[in-house]
Amino acid sequence: MKTLIKNGRVITAVDDYRADILIEDEVVTVIGAHLDMEVDKTIDAAGKLVIPGGIDPHTHMELPFGGTQASDDFRTGTIAAAHGGTTCIIDFAVQNKGQSLIAGLDNWHQKAEGKCAIDYGFHLITTDFEDNQIEEMHTLMDEGVTSFKMFMAYPGVFLVDDATIFRAMSAAGERGGLICMHAENGIVINEIIKHALAKGHTAPKYHALTRPTVAEAEGVHRAIAIAEMAETPVYIVHLSCADALNQVRQARDRGIAAFAETCPQYLFLSLDDYGDDFEGAKYVMTPPLREKANQAELWKGLKMDDLQVISTDHCPFCMKEQKELGRNDFTKIPNGAPGVEHRVPLIYNGGVVENRISLNRFVELTSTAAAKMFGMFPKKGTIAVGSDADIVIFDANKEQTLGVATHHMNVDYSAYEGRTIRGVVETVLSRGKVVIEEGEFKGKAGDGQFVKRGTCVAI
Ligand code: URP
Ligand code: ZN
Ligand code: ZN
Repeated sequence: MKTLIKNGRVITAVDDYRADILIEDEVVTVIGAHLDMEVDKTIDAAGKLVIPGGIDPHTHMELPFGGTQASDDFRTGTIAAAHGGTTCIIDFAVQNKGQSLIAGLDNWHQKAEGKCAIDYGFHLITTDFEDNQIEEMHTLMDEGVTSFKMFMAYPGVFLVDDATIFRAMSAAGERGGLICMHAENGIVINEIIKHALAKGHTAPKYHALTRPTVAEAEGVHRAIAIAEMAETPVYIVHLSCADALNQVRQARDRGIAAFAETCPQYLFLSLDDYGDDFEGAKYVMTPPLREKANQAELWKGLKMDDLQVISTDHCPFCMKEQKELGRNDFTKIPNGAPGVEHRVPLIYNGGVVENRISLNRFVELTSTAAAKMFGMFPKKGTIAVGSDADIVIFDANKEQTLGVATHHMNVDYSAYEGRTIRGVVETVLSRGKVVIEEGEFKGKAGDGQFVKRGTCVAI
């Protein structure tokens, strides 16, 4: 199958030029001016941006959490991702306490197998790690799972102690693996929560008010310090505030390999969104939304490369029957929010249209940097000869209004209801196959392949 994308403006993390792109089967084979060959399909991209497919390295499809399960499965979640110009996700498999790492991974392979509309990889949430599991960790890395998430939060569920973190960081670091850290002091947060509940503070906004930014900054500081002692890089997930960012900045200024991602919710939403009533449950996620002043600092961090990646932490729960579990107690609201569908256009609008970042940086933050960080570059994350033809044709002039009536995520609310943004994903190719055409899904659940990742090449 040969496909020719003609007349587009090709943007990568470093280039900006007009060219045609020839795709043969799954990969890009020729890029040049005025290509004119016999093909099976021609796509006219005149007046449009042609960008690498988005990579979202932080999703939680079907995650069992908070007494329920994330409402998108690998089929609905990856179709929604494709609609929004994302052609690869890295989801978090879970090793439950007492379970082997391999059993946790196998479980996620079973969940995803035959269901994904786009390519996918896995990190492994590691909840137990002893020295006798080093070999198992290295086996996982040989199988393409080269990053591991650990939690300093959620005591009794995912939280691991500092010794476990040190052991896992040392073991991962030996082979170029990366520990992704949920950095928040969950032990102290639990004490703050007890005080709030004792005072009768049960509304959703208390989720945010019991998780101060200093608890996140302390976690980030500790994660980086442990990584420094283990002589390994560390990647902080879903960084939400200036206090935490300053810890990353200081470490990077000292030459430490500390990396971090933020998410659209921390760039576009704030503490004000909780309000006083139960509608605020829509925004119960961890870390929580912060004071608005943090947003400008995060944008500065993205611009100056103290933050390298924008992911979504997509972890949707419906208001009905799921978020409702915590109607009388915010600690029982399942933590997480939907986002996988709108990351690329939201960042285009808030970043490029609002003059905060360049077009190249937009591509880097939404695609290329994640490919490099998580060992998929240059197969993914760019438009180049030999790379997978994961390509988005993006109409930068068209507007769209976000909302539950039009989104494709399997969740009964939008965190961005009624927000109008500039930038619309028009056509999406996943390894050369058109999966979205003029906004319609044309792909097939099951066509997405597991991506066996290498190690980080971002350092
Ligand atoms: O609230 C969130 N972020 N839910 C998903 C689990 C996590 O901590 O990433
Ligand atoms: Zn987390
Ligand atoms: Zn997460």
